[in-house]
Amino acid sequence: KERLSEDIGSEGKECESKENKGKECEGKESESKQSKGKDNEGKDNEDKESKRKENESKDRDSIDKESKGQENKDKETEYISKVEAVNGYLNIFMNREIFIGKILREASGKEYGSADTGKGKTICMDYSSPNIAKNFHVGHLRTTIIGNSLYKLYSKLGYSVVRINHLGDWGTQFGKQIVAYKNWSSKEQVEEGGIAELLRVYIIFDREAEKNPALQEEARAWFAKMEQGDEEALILWKWFKEISLKEFERVYKLLNIEFDSYCGESFYMDKVPALVEELKEKRLLEESDGAGIIKLDDYHMPPCLITKKDGSSIYHSRDIAAALYRKETYDFSQCLYITGAEQKLHFAQIFKALEVMGYEWAEYMHHIPYGLVSMGGEKLSTRKGNVIYAEDILKEAVSLALTAIEEKNPNITEKEETAKKIGIGAVIYHDLANQLIKDVSFRWEEVLNFDGMSAPYIQYTYARAGSILRKIGREIEEQKVNTEYLKDDTSYELVKLVGQYPEVVREAAEKYEPSILARYAYSLAVQFNKFYQECRILTAEAGYQEARAFLCKVVQKTIKDAMSLLGIECPEEM
Ligand code: ARG
Repeated sequence: KERLSEDIGSEGKECESKENKGKECEGKESESKQSKGKDNEGKDNEDKESKRKENESKDRDSIDKESKGQENKDKETEYISKVEAVNGYLNIFMNREIFIGKILREASGKEYGSADTGKGKTICMDYSSPNIAKNFHVGHLRTTIIGNSLYKLYSKLGYSVVRINHLGDWGTQFGKQIVAYKNWSSKEQVEEGGIAELLRVYIIFDREAEKNPALQEEARAWFAKMEQGDEEALILWKWFKEISLKEFERVYKLLNIEFDSYCGESFYMDKVPALVEELKEKRLLEESDGAGIIKLDDYHMPPCLITKKDGSSIYHSRDIAAALYRKETYDFSQCLYITGAEQKLHFAQIFKALEVMGYEWAEYMHHIPYGLVSMGGEKLSTRKGNVIYAEDILKEAVSLALTAIEEKNPNITEKEETAKKIGIGAVIYHDLANQLIKDVSFRWEEVLNFDGMSAPYIQYTYARAGSILRKIGREIEEQKVNTEYLKDDTSYELVKLVGQYPEVVREAAEKYEPSILARYAYSLAVQFNKFYQECRILTAEAGYQEARAFLCKVVQKTIKDAMSLLGIECPEEM
């Protein structure tokens, strides 16, 4: 359990990202195992027992401050009050009071859920990666949201994560875009309409080129010019890219997402000739109809295309060049790619190609596929003009959240900010609540549901817990908590859930499944609401009130942390 299964140890070294975001990676595997002094258990227990007796008449501090000096010794048996064998079963009875104390103490700490599993290791994550001059659609929204959550999860476990936006900014389609622009658009129209305008004329190109093959030829010629560094072609291409990035950045801003590198496909274009040389040397490059390929028959895969007939690079070879560059630059212990499941074969080919090239680290490259996104069951297609912009979805979610606030709680302060957290949170949670590989059908009723398994429900629970704490109006100190008052089944269940948090974080990261965390946050909210219904807090007698309020505080904090790992903010009021 101590290390994530896929990791290899990496020696300490300085890793630098492209944008000079220099990161110092400390070496050494983490050593989180504590030595377990089993022999001392009995004595420990005796000591504890006598101390406990001393304190008996006082308001007891089961959080166990006084034993902090002995923390390195094993006290696990303390949590067990009795073990018995019955009919071949082993029944283990927990000492609730002590167990609750342990969880509350841990969970109230600043770094609860964190680990140093990844200390000294770097993970490259390639996600979002939209294609320029195309709309940033709901599919790209998914990779962006998933990647962001995985970035946060792995950072929590101590990894240094390089967030890479591998923009789709090179390829024959830009030859087509140039022809389309020259024929059917103008500078003013593009400045006015942005990506939508570029897309409009691109669709016209597609339609017209079917009737008129000369257009295809013209497009190919423009792309060839781009590859040869022709000034006019590159000026246009750069302009399309700038316009696109402006729009993408609006989406990232709404989602509160940043990247360490925007090295897209164009960045690797000039690294392909060296790759070709290497493949030739290793006798892996074969010719097929003028194109350069790596045969993968032995692995039951179609060949991996490296160069086209005219010698130009393609998506595959740019990806292999990118992998080599990343290994060289960041010395990653893993490299993750988050895209739709339809690119499974592409990545299988890339990883296999690297393997046959002799790179052992190819086994630490992973494709994390996710299912299709549809709008209420209808497939999205850019070509058919059935496009939905992620930005519109996010804005719509915020505006619907604002309407809900106006209806339900018009008196809260910071309405706009709150609506943003709720609306964006709802969209993020909807994407992350189910296993990645499952298809997602986007329905507004589900996304902004305030009652079911949704972000607004969890956020509401967080705000409610905050409001209880504000009403209590005083800081509850750990020492004042008598865990005796939390031994009832409902409170105990809640404590146990809080206690699972570190394991949930670890599992969600290891399985690349933020849904584990999303579902956990929901269970925690549900159990908290049950606790709040069954165990009075505000009107509880002294002793009970402190204990319950402290549990409330710890739950509130854990919900906030879990949500933040999903990329969702919790408003204080809603
Ligand atoms: N631009 C591609 C798309 O929109 C995704 C790129 C994923 N990353 C990669 N290294 N191939 O489908």
